[in-house]
Amino acid sequence: MPSRIATLRDFSVVILAAGKGTRLKSALAKVLHRAGGRTLVEHAVRACLPLRTREILAIVGHQAEAVTSCVAPLGARTVLQQPQNGTGHALRVARSRLARAKYALVLPGDAPLIRTETLERLARRHLESAAAATVLTAMLAEPAGYGRILRKADNSVAAIVEEKAATPEQRAIQEINSSLYAFTLAELWPCLEALRPTNVHRELYLTDAIALLNQRGKRVLADVAADSQEVLGCNTRAELADADRIFRGRKCRELMDAGVSIFLPETVWIDPDVRIGADTVIEPGVQLLGATRIGANCHIHTGSVLMDMALDDRVTVREHCVMTASRIRAGAVVGPFSRLRPEADIGLNAHVGNFVEVKKSRLGEGAKAQHLSYLGDASIGPKTNIGAGTITCNFDGVKKNRTVIGANVFIGSNTALVAPVRVGDRAYVAAGSTITENVPPDALGIARGKQANKPGWATARRKAMATEGEKHRKRASRPPRRIPERNKKSKRPPR
Ligand code: UD1
Ligand code: CA
Repeated sequence: MPSRIATLRDFSVVILAAGKGTRLKSALAKVLHRAGGRTLVEHAVRACLPLRTREILAIVGHQAEAVTSCVAPLGARTVLQQPQNGTGHALRVARSRLARAKYALVLPGDAPLIRTETLERLARRHLESAAAATVLTAMLAEPAGYGRILRKADNSVAAIVEEKAATPEQRAIQEINSSLYAFTLAELWPCLEALRPTNVHRELYLTDAIALLNQRGKRVLADVAADSQEVLGCNTRAELADADRIFRGRKCRELMDAGVSIFLPETVWIDPDVRIGADTVIEPGVQLLGATRIGANCHIHTGSVLMDMALDDRVTVREHCVMTASRIRAGAVVGPFSRLRPEADIGLNAHVGNFVEVKKSRLGEGAKAQHLSYLGDASIGPKTNIGAGTITCNFDGVKKNRTVIGANVFIGSNTALVAPVRVGDRAYVAAGSTITENVPPDALGIARGKQANKPGWATARRKAMATEGEKHRKRASRPPRRIPERNKKSKRPPR
């Protein structure tokens, strides 16, 4: 058979994701913790996808089902490691599944910051050098907790020594093992079989395979990561928070490069799938989550939290709004302190103001609901004004009912619209009404107690109160009556 040049298609990816993550002190398996809006293991899989390797295998063990349902939709297959006897054992259990693979790219499930380009470079260097293994290493100012790289005189890698087994001199080495490797599998398998649990945890360490390869006269090379942040592991809550901060920073940087203004980006949280148009301004303390899409020339003011939102161009979201799974059309202004619950649809140039809650409701073009309202299961026509304190009473105790308000309607303040109910185009509803029947177009709906004025009533009332007050003061200023001495004694006759 003619020999051909090996490519990334000859690699299988193996993601080690079976561990528990004891240091997180969590009921949730480590790789299911999140940073930058995704689970750690999902980040690992996603970094490998563009490489178009022959397959992606994830080694699962702790909460295997949950980890599988996280990676399977991305096209990764899983291999069960039960029990979890260490990183070397994890790779060993995948041996039969990798029977036809020539090379493996191995990743830990807890180093989510790794970039595709870095993986590609590692794989290519491995192929070019014809080494048995290539270890991705990094220079860290604070290498504590990581395995250290021991180099030979010829600069190849002699061994990896784990922190716990390292001598003080070895601990001073700043070059660390990232746990990302490229292996030529035919060379690796015999070394994995030869692993012994000679460490404090009585596990089979993949790192020990490096010295074993050397003992068999094989060559192991190091590829030093250009950006050491990419290899950071997430073993503790503090490391998870660090990784999250780095992801958020990367996302903000991408958006800024694409023309979005972000002030104090270190205070802003933007999930990876969020898209934002150019010249949009994001103020400090904003969270943009899930599949949120924001158009161009929008302004999101401080403290607002948007989840799965769709905003057209030129939308203003004022301070401290909380909104989910809704649409805001061009030119609309929402907030401050507005709440949009799922399926709100705020029309072109419409206004929604303070303490207004909108759910499953459509506001037409130019409609306004500026203050203190609940609009649920409602349709509100264009140019309609919803007065302060208007409530759509959509729930009758059993089911939800709709309120339909036409165009150019004026709903007076403090109106209760008891659904199902309709208000026709151009109608008025008097302030303080409780509307239980439909209001026809062009009509006035009024439903409240009739006002009566009683002339002079207040003067008379004040006078009466003044007299009452005088009596009370006199009574209060009298000295207290002395209680006669005998009354203080027990009423019971002496025995
Ligand atoms: C490992 C390396 C260390 C390296 C560091 C980089 C070993 C012995 N040590 O240490 O040299 O500097 O990563 O982050 O490899 N896993 C399994 N099955 C197991 C055990 C672990 O799948 O039986 C998985 C874990 O889920 C995790 C990954 O392997 O995703 C690494 O394991 P972890 O315990 O985090 O290793 P470290 O102590 O960080
Ligand atoms: Ca780790």
